[in-house]
Amino acid sequence: MKVLVTGGTGYIGSHTVVELQQGGFEVIIVDNLSNSYESVVDNIEKITGIKPGFEKFDLTDRDKTLDFLKHHKDLKGVIHFAASKSVGESVEKPLKYYHNNLLSLIYLLEGMVQNNIDNIVFSSSCTVYGQPDELPVTEKAPIKKAWSTYGHTKQISEQIIENTSISNGIKGILLRYFNPIGAHDSVLIGELPIGSPDNLIPFITQTAIGKREVLRVFGDDYDTPDGTAVRDYIHVVDLAKAHVVALNRMITGKNQAKVEIFNLGTGWGHSVLEVINTFEKISGVKLNYRITERRPGDIEKVWADTQFANQELGWKASKGLEEMILSAWNWELELKKRV
Ligand code: UD1
Repeated sequence: MKVLVTGGTGYIGSHTVVELQQGGFEVIIVDNLSNSYESVVDNIEKITGIKPGFEKFDLTDRDKTLDFLKHHKDLKGVIHFAASKSVGESVEKPLKYYHNNLLSLIYLLEGMVQNNIDNIVFSSSCTVYGQPDELPVTEKAPIKKAWSTYGHTKQISEQIIENTSISNGIKGILLRYFNPIGAHDSVLIGELPIGSPDNLIPFITQTAIGKREVLRVFGDDYDTPDGTAVRDYIHVVDLAKAHVVALNRMITGKNQAKVEIFNLGTGWGHSVLEVINTFEKISGVKLNYRITERRPGDIEKVWADTQFANQELGWKASKGLEEMILSAWNWELELKKRV
């Protein structure tokens, strides 16, 4: 069973490729390497013993994308990760985000329709909910005006898949990720941010190891127990496994609608200070951090209602906060050994 993974050398993509191979799929990766490295392909092979196929090109190149799919009509499905993902950058360069994130999806779908490739799993985000009125947030919560262009591209992409599925054979599962963290147990793959990371966990581990001087905690005046913002952190391998379940669900015709939506979180919210305290406890390292102003565009608190994913997908996140943070720290320690 052959599957295309776009963005397969990236953070979530690479962990998903491993789980797919271990689940019996033959994987071909397409990635433009704009935010990842080709060496990830070899590291995947070290973990699974199987080298995934790899082609380097940009999915916003329509001719290349259509040509690729024409030559891979036997694909059982597509898992589409390839996208730009920095919230801050998306506000500064909106056209880059509309261009990259929407054109790649449109050309992929065009090629899928042309070649009767039916199943797509799409990387969406809890960002589509904005600040939800009720917590935990369920998949039925209203989509609110996006706070960033990044978030807007996820909302539009979901709509593009839904509308495309109406008039042809395309089936889709839209996975709304909460905050993925951690790395594979082998420490052969993990998050490799190019430049200064935006996200909390790599910023914490890089500060602890000495790559960054100080961690800024963005705001302690939120309406939360300790005043810092609350998120639902989920281990990247738990997240990766959900993609295999989702793909199998469509291949075996178990989906209940042409397009289904699932939250991928743990159901637990943790504040920034709680994450920092947990990191200090498990690593034994005292973090240099200071409280600063809120980061523009940040929401106050969000965590997932996971019931639908647990019951319908038969999938559940297995790792708790300590285990996840230890996993991220082991990865940072491994990266230090590599240089
Ligand atoms: C956001 C998006 C998510 C998107 C991700 C991509 C929302 C709700 N989430 O995650 O959909 O996929 O970006 O990058 O829009 N923090 C600090 N100091 C730091 C970094 C972060 O205090 O140096 C705090 C943030 O203010 C936030 C929490 O840590 O409260 C998590 O931040 P981050 O890891 O950047 O993820 P989100 O912003 O939640």
